[in-house]
This record gives sequence, C-alpha cells and structure tokens, in this order.
Amino acid sequence: MTILGIESSCDECAAAVVIDGRRVVSSVVATQIAEHARYDGVVPEIASRLHTEWIRDVAERALAEAGTGMSGIDGIAVTARPGLAGSLLVGVSFAKALAWSTGKPFVGVNHVLAHLYAPLLSEDVGYPFIGLIVSGGHTLLCRADGFDDITVLGTTIDDAIGEAFDKVAKHYGLGYPGGAAIDRLARSGDAAACRFPSANLYKGEHRYDVSYSGIKTAAIRQLDQFWNPAYERTDANLAAAFEKAAVDMLASRLIKVVDDTGIKTVVAGGGVAANTYLRARLARRTDLRTIFPPLSLCGDNAAMIAGLGYHMLARGDRDGLGLNASPRVAAFKRAASS
Ligand code: KG4
Ligand code: ZN
Repeated sequence: MTILGIESSCDECAAAVVIDGRRVVSSVVATQIAEHARYDGVVPEIASRLHTEWIRDVAERALAEAGTGMSGIDGIAVTARPGLAGSLLVGVSFAKALAWSTGKPFVGVNHVLAHLYAPLLSEDVGYPFIGLIVSGGHTLLCRADGFDDITVLGTTIDDAIGEAFDKVAKHYGLGYPGGAAIDRLARSGDAAACRFPSANLYKGEHRYDVSYSGIKTAAIRQLDQFWNPAYERTDANLAAAFEKAAVDMLASRLIKVVDDTGIKTVVAGGGVAANTYLRARLARRTDLRTIFPPLSLCGDNAAMIAGLGYHMLARGDRDGLGLNASPRVAAFKRAASS
C-alpha cells in the first residue's frame, strides 16, 4: 500500500510518500523556522497562514519525487491531533479535499504516536519496547505493545523537555530553535561549570516522572547560586551544564524503567531525540538496543505520519469528511501504580 502523508501540526509543512509503512520514497519538509525566528517562537497565526500558502506545492513535490502522482496513492494519512488548531486544520482540510476528490480512503493520525513510529521506518523492532517520546510538547516514557498501544510509565509533571531547552535558549538569546542551538553550543562547553538541582523526589506512581520547571527556573533566575566560580560564564558552558542536567534526569528515569521492566529495547522519537548528548548518554548502556530515528526524521515530518497511517488503513481504519482537528488528545493510558 502506498500512502501519502500530510503533516502541518506546528511550523513544518510536510508531505511524504511511504510504501507499506517502511519504504520512504519521498519526504518533503518545508520549514518555517526563518519566519518565526525573529519572534523566538512559533506564532500560530503566521504558521497557519504559511501552511495554507505552501501545502499544495509541498504535496505536489512529494508526489513528483515519489514518481507516483496521485493515481499511484492507495490512501491518505494526515496529522489530526495534537498541535496548533489553525495549523492542523490546514492539513486536515487539505487531506479531506484530496480524499473527496480522488475517492481515496483517508485517516487522521496522532502526531505523538507518529514520532514513536519514525525510527520504525528504517528498523525492524519487535514489541514490546520502551518508548521515549521527547519533543517541544511531550515528554513520555512508555511501554509500547503495538503501533497505537502504549502505556505511559513516566511523564513530565510540568514543562516538556524541548520547551525547557527553548525557554532557556530564548532567555539568554542562544539561538532559535533553542534545543538545536543549545546542542551546538554545548559541544564546546564544560558541563561541570554549573550544577543544576535535579528533581529526584518522586516515588510511587511518580517514580519515573520528570520535572523541568525547577532547572529551567534555576537556569533563568538563579544562575549565580548554582554556577561554579572556577568556570567562565560563557554561553557554551551554560548550554553544556543545562543540557546535561535536563538529559541526565530523563536518562536516569529511563534506566530505572529498563531495569524494572527488563525490556532492553528502547525506541526514541521527537525533536529532542536529535540531541547529541542524549544519544551518547544512552549509548553508554551497552546492554541496551537503543534505536533513534535518523536526524531528518526526529523533528516533524510526514514520513512518520504515512508510516503510522499505513498500519491504521491496513487494518481498516477510515475517517469520514466529518474528521476534525483537535489541539489536544485524551491522555494515553497510564500503568497502574505499584
Ligand atoms: O518534534 P518536534 O519537531 O516538534 C514537536 O512535536 O514539539 O520537536 C521540537 C523540539 C523543540 O523544543 C526543539 O528545541 C527540540 O525539539 N530540539 C532539540 C534538538 N533539536 C530540536 N532539543 C535538543 N537537542 C536538539 N538537537
Ligand atoms: Zn512533533
């Protein structure tokens, strides 16, 4: 089955063609980074307006690069949730119009689950595995038993990890988007320059949870208190220390999950899965099989939407023209606390 995927949940306007949930024959991502950079963050109104202007070209390019045209497409998958309402609506309306005019089946896809599917486009991974979904909006540690069957083991109790990177970078003017800027700067910095407090207070049902508001506030408002005066106050040192604190907190919970469940396959997805230190930190556990998506598929893209959409369409899922975009999703099921 050859699926056209459409993604417009935030600031990337993307379309891709994927065969049988595995073979990516085209993946076009038109990024709006340059348009939002001057505001140091995504401006929803600008994002949806640009999606409206770009989406047709982006889809036509994906179809042309795949060499299929629309006639070679068996089904359409579109991100329907969660995301910015106006941005999502552009993709969903476009996909509905395309489905209606061509008579092809279509399905709305959950963007968060699609991030976890991205690494599976290029690797054969059996279930169950431990999923790590880390993006600007989500921080989830879960057990995955199927492409749409996840059980949340841990999550953030406040900010998402990517959001914390973005806010610290914005405050200090380190660059936009913040996560990638901090990753770049951190490579020439020394993480020992600053010891941020690690929130390690959680027990019982919160034992795998993380919290980013504490280190974010420490980095933005209380830097003097945590800075080691033996080190120069450079952006690179700050970036390295913040990155280490943010990633170590998550990695420690992940290792706990792996040790407690005995499941040693870890699949990571989402924009923060591009992080160099996170990749290196998990590689230290040589007994784990850790699968990261290629860098091109960490951030928002439509190949992951087409890949996940394939499995949904293949089992018979269909949406009608009444499909709506929804900015939020119902919470994923949580493991019973022990
Ligand atoms: O998955 P994504 O593109 O969009 C959402 O679904 O949220 O993730 C975007 C997030 C942003 O917070 C961005 O700063 C972060 O991913 N990010 C990174 C890196 N590249 C992007 N964070 C840390 N290190 C990176 N290399
Ligand atoms: Zn995303």
